[in-house]
Amino acid sequence: MDPERSSRRRFLIRVAGALAAIEGMILAVPLVGTAIGPSFRKLRLTAFAKVGPVATLPVGQPTEVTFNDVTADAYLSNDAMRHAWAVAKPGGTVTVFSPICPHLGCRYDWDAADHRFACPCHGSQFALDGTVLAGPAPRPLDPLPSEIRDGTLFVRWELFKSGIPTREEV
Ligand code: FES
Repeated sequence: MDPERSSRRRFLIRVAGALAAIEGMILAVPLVGTAIGPSFRKLRLTAFAKVGPVATLPVGQPTEVTFNDVTADAYLSNDAMRHAWAVAKPGGTVTVFSPICPHLGCRYDWDAADHRFACPCHGSQFALDGTVLAGPAPRPLDPLPSEIRDGTLFVRWELFKSGIPTREEV
C-alpha cells in the first residue's frame, strides 16, 4: 500500500477513535450524575424564607403562615409555596411547626374550641407547644428552623420521617 495513504488512514482511525471517546465522555456525564446524585442529597441547600413581621403574630395562639421555599439542588433550583404554624410566645420568641403530622404525614389543623392541634386522619392531638395530647403520634410536632431578624420571621423548610419516635430528616 502507498505509505502516504497508509499514514492518512492511521491518522483518520485515530481521529475517529478520539471523537468516539469524547462522545462517550459527554454521554457519561448525565449517567454518572444520576448514579451518584442521591449521595449528594445532603448538599441540598434550603435558604431561610421570609415569613413576615413577628409583631403581626398574636401571642399564645397559632397562626398559619405561608412562605416561598427556594432550594438549590446541584444545578437545579426549585420554588415551592409552603405553609406552617407559627406560635408567638411572650417575650418575642416564635416557634414554627411543620404542618405535617408526625404520625403518618397528614395535615393537621388548629381546633380553636379545644385549644389544640388536631389531625383528622387518626385522631392525634397536640398542645400549643407541640406535645402529644392524644392519639397515635409517636412524637411531638416537628419544629422548623426559624430566625427573627430585625423583627421579621424567617423559616427554613424541612421534611421529617413520619411514624417514628425520633426526629429525622427525610
Ligand atoms: Fe395524623 Fe395519623 S396522620 S394522626
